[in-house]
Parts: sequence; structure tokens; C-alpha cells
Amino acid sequence: MKLWEKGASVDALMEWFTVGMDREMDQQLARWDVVGSIAHVTMLGKVGLLRADEAKILTDTLTQILREIDDHQFVIDPSMEDVHSQIEYMLIQRLGELGKKIHLGRSRNDQVAVDMKLYLRHELSTIRSAALDVADVLLTLAERHSAVLLPGYTHTQVAMPSSFGLWFGGYAEAVLEDVRVLDVAIDAANANPLGSAAGYGSSVPIDRQTTTELLDFERVHVTSTFAQMSRGRTERICAMAIGNLAATLSRFAADVVWYMSQNQGFVSLPDAFTTGSSIMPHKKNPDVFEVLRARCNRLQALPNELSMMQANATSGYHRDLQFMKDRIIPAITEMQHCLQVLHHVAPHLEPRQNILESDVYRYLFSVDRVNALVMEGMAFRDAYRAVAAEIEQGSFTPPTKDSVGQPGHLGSITNPGLDLLRERLNAARTTSQRSAR
Ligand code: ARG
Repeated sequence: MKLWEKGASVDALMEWFTVGMDREMDQQLARWDVVGSIAHVTMLGKVGLLRADEAKILTDTLTQILREIDDHQFVIDPSMEDVHSQIEYMLIQRLGELGKKIHLGRSRNDQVAVDMKLYLRHELSTIRSAALDVADVLLTLAERHSAVLLPGYTHTQVAMPSSFGLWFGGYAEAVLEDVRVLDVAIDAANANPLGSAAGYGSSVPIDRQTTTELLDFERVHVTSTFAQMSRGRTERICAMAIGNLAATLSRFAADVVWYMSQNQGFVSLPDAFTTGSSIMPHKKNPDVFEVLRARCNRLQALPNELSMMQANATSGYHRDLQFMKDRIIPAITEMQHCLQVLHHVAPHLEPRQNILESDVYRYLFSVDRVNALVMEGMAFRDAYRAVAAEIEQGSFTPPTKDSVGQPGHLGSITNPGLDLLRERLNAARTTSQRSAR
């Protein structure tokens, strides 16, 4: 059944091509479609476009459909174009004439727009709290191993002393910053497009503030034109926030893979988290972090893909928008899996002690030696030259790690500022993002 069918039959290949993955994707949106419809019907009752008893029967039936969706009893029949058609069809089946009244003052264009907003707001809130859990794991590791030293690199060449406090702590802070970007994306999804209908409103006296309140949106998209244009834009902003978090996770994974190489040997994983080789009996490979890197790198293509999909699209609805769903919906699931796995595996990363004892790192403290000479009164450039000469002549003796200044400045190996990050993490957890709706 097509909502728009007027007698003429529809070409099957054309239909298959235009529907694409829509039924599968809409299955994920079904509960939000019903939530949006309940708000719409309640509002129609409030403004008198439906009688109170009609609105009550419709909302009761929609609530029953919502229960069926949550109990996995709901399917979109292959004869239906999408979730909107399926639900209207079910209402007509169950309520007859009354079911035919629900679509007054709206269009599938604002229906799907509100579905996506509700879906994205909810799923990004879930990602936000999973990201905070990952930040917590990283910060806990930083706190536990804060005093264990690690070589820092520039140009992949041994540079200056770092620590597991700085390394884990740096990634904990990165995730906390990524959560701030997620908050912007959640805000983009936290506005009501419902009532914009096909993109230009309608001539019946609907009340858009009422649906805004009923759906607990922070604000209404005022103009029908922008409400429609926000479709695609919201997806793009959410994709950017996901891609941004993915970039952090990917970079962490790349570090772990490198740190696990025998040449570095900075961290190890229990055997249960490694994989073997079909030919080399000695292998214990960090596949889980390689796969995390690959999945997160692929996620970083998402914002670009969604931007390209909208290239040259004028204002107003275009069917092109439908094809964002089958990119962003699986990407959200993918990000949730990445966070879940990282949260599961990261606590098992075991830093190696006494890494810096190897001769490879003998010049790691060269700047500390320069700084020590400066503290004795020498100008920096002279001290730099003096230490460079010591290194050239082979007379440089590396300072011991105990000679590292105490306490260091904020963000240095002796004062990584983990307590400050802990405060920020706690604040981010209590910040009301009106999540878990
Ligand atoms: N499946 C469509 C989408 O996601 C639903 C809206 C259809 N609207 C239309 N005018 N054909 O965009």
C-alpha cells in the first residue's frame, strides 16, 4: 500500500530502487515515529482538530503499537513504503475511519525529520555517556600508573620523558573534549521540526509549541523552511561529532598497536585479548586495536559522505535525504560497539615498568640537563650548546629520573593534572543533557 496511491500501478524496479534500505532503517525509527505521532495527535485534540475522545482512542492505540515495537512484535510489511505508511495502515486497520484522520497538518517529511531528531538525540546521549565511561577508564589508568615513565616522541624519534599518567590522561582529556562536541550535536537534534509538514507548514491551526513541549525539545525550529532544511544538517553535525570522537579512539588504538610491538614493548595485553597467526607460532597480535583503528577511521568518512550527499541540493525536501539514514544509523551502532569494546579491553592494558633503563632512551633527559644548567645561572642557548657538545663528545651522563623537577608545572610528568580532569569528568556526568529519554 502506498499512502499516495491513486489507482495507477507503480513500476516494481523503480520502487525497489527508490525504497532501498528504507524499511530496515525505519525499523530503528519506529518507536520515535510513534512517539512523534502521539504528540501530534495530543496537539490535534488540544486545538480542537480532533475531538477529545478521538484523540484519546488514537493515543491509546499508538501507545499499544509502541509497546509492540518495544516487544519486537512490529514489522514493516514489504508492501509498505516506509514506517509512516505501516503505522497509518495499522491505525486504519484497527480504528477504521478514525485512523484516516491522523495525518492532518503534517507530512511524512516532517514526520521523518522529527523521528531523526528524537532518534539522534537519544542515541547521541547514549554515546555521550559511553564516552564518559571510556574517559573514566582512561583516567583511572592514568591515576594508577601516573608515575611510570614512558618515552615521548616527536617525528617518531625519541624526544622527552613522558609518563603513563600523561599518555592515558591525554586521551582521557581528548575524550572529554569530544564530549563537548557531542553536546553541540545533541543540541542540534534537540529542536522541533514537527508541523513544518512538507516544508511549508499548513493552513490548519496546529500548535507547534505544544508538540515542542510534549516531545521535551529545547526549542522549536521556527520557520517551516528551516525546519525542513535542518534535516540533513542535523545528521551532518551528529556525524561530525561521531567522526571527531572516532579520530581520538583511532589515534589511541594506533598508539597501543605501536606500543605493543616488541621494539617498544611499552604495554602488554593478556593472551585472551590477542590473536594468533596461522603460520608463525609465536604471534600474539593486537588485532582488537587494529580493528578499532579501522572501524574508527571508517567512521571518520561519515561526515564527508553526508556532506557530499547534500551537495547542490536546493532548499525544500529531496528524496536524497532518505539515503542519509542508511549511513548514519549503522554508524551510530558502530560507534557504540567501539566504545563498548574499548571500555572492556583498556583496563587490561599493562604498562611495563623501568622502560627508560634501555640505552635507547639515554638522551631523553637532555632538556632536563639543559634546564639544570639554566637553574645554575647559564643562559638557555649556552646551556643548550654545552649539552649538545657533551652529547657529541660522548661525555653526556643522563640525569636520573629522580632529578626531574618537583613539583612540575601543570600538565607535566610530575604534575599531570589528573585531579582537574577528574573534576571535569564528574561535572560532565552531572551536566544535564536530558539524556536517556
Ligand atoms: N522515506 C522518506 C525519507 O526518508 C520519507 C519521506 C517521504 N516523503 C516524500 N515526499 N516522498 O525521506
